[in-house]
Amino acid sequence: MSIIKNPELYPLGLQKIEWVKRFMPVLNELHKRYAEEKPLAGLKVSVCIHLEAKTAYLALLLRDLGASVCVTGSNPLSTKDEICAALYHLGVDVFAIHGASEEEYYEHIRHTLDFCPHIIIDDGGDFVEMLTNNHELAKNLIGGCEETTTGIHRLRVRERNNALNFPMIAVNDANCKHLFDNVHGTGQSVWDAIMFTTNNMVSGRTIVVAGYGFCSRGIANRAKGLGANVIVTEVNPFRALEAAMDGFRVMKMDDAAPLGDIFVCATGCNDVINKSHFDLMKDDCMLANAGHFDVEINKVDLKSMSVKVEESKPFIETYTLKSGKRINLLADGWLVNIVAGNGHPAEIMDMSFAIQTLCVLHLAKHGKGLQNKLYDVPREIDYDVAMIKLNAMGLGLDELTDEQKEYLGM
Ligand code: NAI
Repeated sequence: MSIIKNPELYPLGLQKIEWVKRFMPVLNELHKRYAEEKPLAGLKVSVCIHLEAKTAYLALLLRDLGASVCVTGSNPLSTKDEICAALYHLGVDVFAIHGASEEEYYEHIRHTLDFCPHIIIDDGGDFVEMLTNNHELAKNLIGGCEETTTGIHRLRVRERNNALNFPMIAVNDANCKHLFDNVHGTGQSVWDAIMFTTNNMVSGRTIVVAGYGFCSRGIANRAKGLGANVIVTEVNPFRALEAAMDGFRVMKMDDAAPLGDIFVCATGCNDVINKSHFDLMKDDCMLANAGHFDVEINKVDLKSMSVKVEESKPFIETYTLKSGKRINLLADGWLVNIVAGNGHPAEIMDMSFAIQTLCVLHLAKHGKGLQNKLYDVPREIDYDVAMIKLNAMGLGLDELTDEQKEYLGM
């Protein structure tokens, strides 16, 4: 069974999936390594990740490794209907429709879990939430993997409150994930999406980036590379100092608000840009978010201060304040790079999804012996993915001699 928008969209979806496969050598290598052996035979895997071409390849790989796979998208606005159609065409169960309402979204999540998975791949924590509230759906569950920083925060809160009922692996925290996906994937795709959507200049403009974490430093550095004047705001003194010593101006959002032409948040925190800032901003400035939820720019405040809201272009809502000032909100405050763009480059998701695949294999083999806690990705998995990627990129790596290892105390 599946719920998708239109099965006839599959040719475009297939084309997009075939395209990304050409740039995902680590997943191709894992396919070569495990497809014959079928180490996931007999296991059911439910996947909830932004449902676009790279995710489809992950789902197909897991199926080729022997699993029964059921897929939904982690945000209806990032779901690509042609990809859902392609997966359905290839016989994978899919429950996702672009633009589904909140109620439909949770129904789709529920359907994806109805087949009582052994292993889950979650992105932001909505699967875990539903499985925690419904033990029947979790009856086969061995464990799961979490893709993103916000999902890891939610899992840590659960763990602290003794409310984590199954083992989870913090995929986001692997080196091969956050050092590349969060930094370079978000850095590139956020600017792709903003430039394509607004058709505005970045060079010479003043860009305010909220946060100097993994995603936000990628966004700030890419903006700098594009010739922008970049301001960073932070709440963490070490990260603020890092930003300052990387050459950025660092100040409070109150001081940055009147200066920015384009604002981008990627903090995972709520209410980062709010009522106290909108009145200070320039006419026709742009606001975008790259954090997991649409809470970083306070849309309720913005709406309450506006006399008019209209769509100026696809993915751009213009809010006109009482003073006549216009503030443009991109992608309705949801992740701009995935909702209004193509998401991360395939080469980046290659590494993130290779970590996911190897963690699913790890859970299949060792999951029953794990406790109900949040685990780090095993070091050998991280190392394996890094080595396959280096080889695929044709990059050489020196090796320590025994003498050097002894000198280093290894
Ligand atoms: P991180 O923890 O490395 O960085 C967040 C930074 O924001 C920290 O330095 C923190 O001190 C700072 N911060 C927190 N509250 C703030 C505030 N009110 N004002 C200014 N700075 C503040 O987290 P990471 O990995 O960069 O993730 C950030 C968000 O992006 C999360 O929601 C994550 O799930 C999401 N994400 C989005 C992706 C995308 O494709 N758009 C990809 C990966 C993660």
